[in-house]
Amino acid sequence: MGVPPEVLERIKRLREEINYHNYRYYVLDSPVISDEEFDALMNELRNLEDRYPETITPDSPTQRVGAPPSERFNTVSHRVPMLSLDDAFTEREVLDFDERVKRFLGIDSEIEYSLEPKMDGLAVELIYERGMLVQGSTRGDGYTGEDVTANLRTIKPIPLRLIERQVKAPVLLEARGEVFMNKKDFERLNRERRENGEPLFANPRNAAAGSLRQLDPNVTASRPLDIFCYGVGVVEGHEFKTQWEILQTFKRWGLRVNPMVGKTHGIKGAIDYHQRITKIRPSLPYEIDGIVIKVNSLELQRRLGTKARSPRWAIAYKFEPAQAVTRILDILLSVGRTGAVTPVAVMEPVKVGGVVISRATLHNEDEIRRKDIRIGDYVIVQRAGDVIPEVVKPLVERRTGQEKRFVMPKTCPVCGSQLVRKPGEAVWRCPNPDCFPRLVRQLTHYASKGAMDIEGLGPKIAEQLISAGIVRNVADIYRIKMSDLMSLEGFAEKSAQNLLDAIERSKKTSLARFLYALGIRHVGEVTAQILARHFGSLDALMNADAEDLRDIDGIGPEVAASIVSWFKEERNRRLVKRLLDAGVTFTGEPKGRKPPLEGKSFVFTGALSSLKREEAKKIVQNLGGQVGSTVSRKTSYVVVGENPGSKYEKARRLGIPVLSEEEFLEMTKGGT
Ligand code: IVH
Repeated sequence: MGVPPEVLERIKRLREEINYHNYRYYVLDSPVISDEEFDALMNELRNLEDRYPETITPDSPTQRVGAPPSERFNTVSHRVPMLSLDDAFTEREVLDFDERVKRFLGIDSEIEYSLEPKMDGLAVELIYERGMLVQGSTRGDGYTGEDVTANLRTIKPIPLRLIERQVKAPVLLEARGEVFMNKKDFERLNRERRENGEPLFANPRNAAAGSLRQLDPNVTASRPLDIFCYGVGVVEGHEFKTQWEILQTFKRWGLRVNPMVGKTHGIKGAIDYHQRITKIRPSLPYEIDGIVIKVNSLELQRRLGTKARSPRWAIAYKFEPAQAVTRILDILLSVGRTGAVTPVAVMEPVKVGGVVISRATLHNEDEIRRKDIRIGDYVIVQRAGDVIPEVVKPLVERRTGQEKRFVMPKTCPVCGSQLVRKPGEAVWRCPNPDCFPRLVRQLTHYASKGAMDIEGLGPKIAEQLISAGIVRNVADIYRIKMSDLMSLEGFAEKSAQNLLDAIERSKKTSLARFLYALGIRHVGEVTAQILARHFGSLDALMNADAEDLRDIDGIGPEVAASIVSWFKEERNRRLVKRLLDAGVTFTGEPKGRKPPLEGKSFVFTGALSSLKREEAKKIVQNLGGQVGSTVSRKTSYVVVGENPGSKYEKARRLGIPVLSEEEFLEMTKGGT
């Protein structure tokens, strides 16, 4: 029994409609019917085909899935080799490419280029004969690939039949494109696989490749794959003049083309395009690894020809890779705000994602063991977007046997306390509550205005530097590198350079500032000045004993004892040596006895709480200053206690600096 002609007509019509709506949906991204209406058309077609199986053709939209699993893939040789592209990473390399093209062609004027995002998936070839998809294959080695027709047919955006409403399909079309998986779909797939205990895909590209190279097309059908087409192999029965025309005609035939493709006259436009794409890259639903710049004219392409593996008429202008290989030079420890002691990899500086990095946290001892990271290892490091760098894995095959395993020390690298690790926790902690904040305070004091005056090194940055293990000792600041700062959150090249400059400038200082910066107990700015004037050199001060110090006007026994015991400690002597070795030098320090408050006059008003008025006066006098009883324009400072009298008012009126008791004591620290 034959098929009634009206059924044949209806089936033909349904297939055309479905193909058209697929095209509206996948290629134009503007469907004109709802999903339900589309499903209804598909159901009607399926029902008719069930009743009249003899009507089924391989290009029917119902025939995407259904091929049985194969034993292995057959090989397919590409009539025109599927070449790869030369890479460029810098503007310079792209300009060179443009110059090469012009020189080769003997053309002086600007070249027209087609511009396309470089999809990070896998290349395939789709062969259409008179509009019908007859074969699909992977790129393979460029000359022979695998026949994955059954799998490619399951990818909905790939038309099984070309649309011919506007342009007739050619006798033969070898269309090339990139199969890929969207980032979100990749994540969903991996989530499911994790739940099912299946191995995870490393990235969307691997997921796409793994899904396409499945022996069972049903598996491929269950994976959300997509395609963008960008080129041709052999074409018979249609003539293209430009790459741009290929892309536009593809769209008309229902082959999906990346909506971001562009065209430019002159290479400058390609560089702008790269910048634009770089900016929107994070918001794209799929991964791209650069742009492809192609000479637009096919005639010029032909004249330029190809080299062994890549054409002369195209170049991939890639983004800086987010991963790189480098070597672990050492594993240091950083102490965090909560006392957590974290191992940090110090690496040979390497450019990742456009930024040079040299450090990456290794999180904890267990993590190092799990990844089997050793000192001396070559490792893959990555930095995605603004995320802090991380060590992905060691390249075990590059080991020489000289690598050293990391052993977690038992004591704190900053204060020497015994570290503790609570049961069930992965981190070791320093139990000394003073340890981290103390180092932050030391460092901030060292950098403060009255001390070494390092602009930009406040408590926040000090915390960051210590937490990252960049600074474990004040002297470490002179070893900070650009790449260290770039591995911290919130640093851009400019701010990092400013801080490095400020640190460098601080090396030229005065002895008094340096002594104050060391943070010796009882040695405030004034005492530091007295000491600097008296001794004139650091050596002389370091060799002085308590008696020598007590003999100095303005230095009491307590201060003297504090100084002597500070310089006695090996740790402190080492710090001083390291600071000097780093290049700290003193200038303009006349040796003499000019007292620090010489020429300054003080007036007190109100009740002082921690010392008697007489004691306060003595402090001033000891330091060479004078104490007055009335406020005048000549008064240098008015010190205000509780319930101040009219002197306070007058000081304010005359604009004379007013000091609180604390400020007074701070200023004259050690002056008893
Ligand atoms: S053109 C001779 N265009 O990049 C020209 N390739 O390194 C060869 N790719 O194997 C390819 N997006 O997998 C071209 N818009 C694009 C592309 C693209 C991604 C991939 C393709 C190719 C590889 C070349």
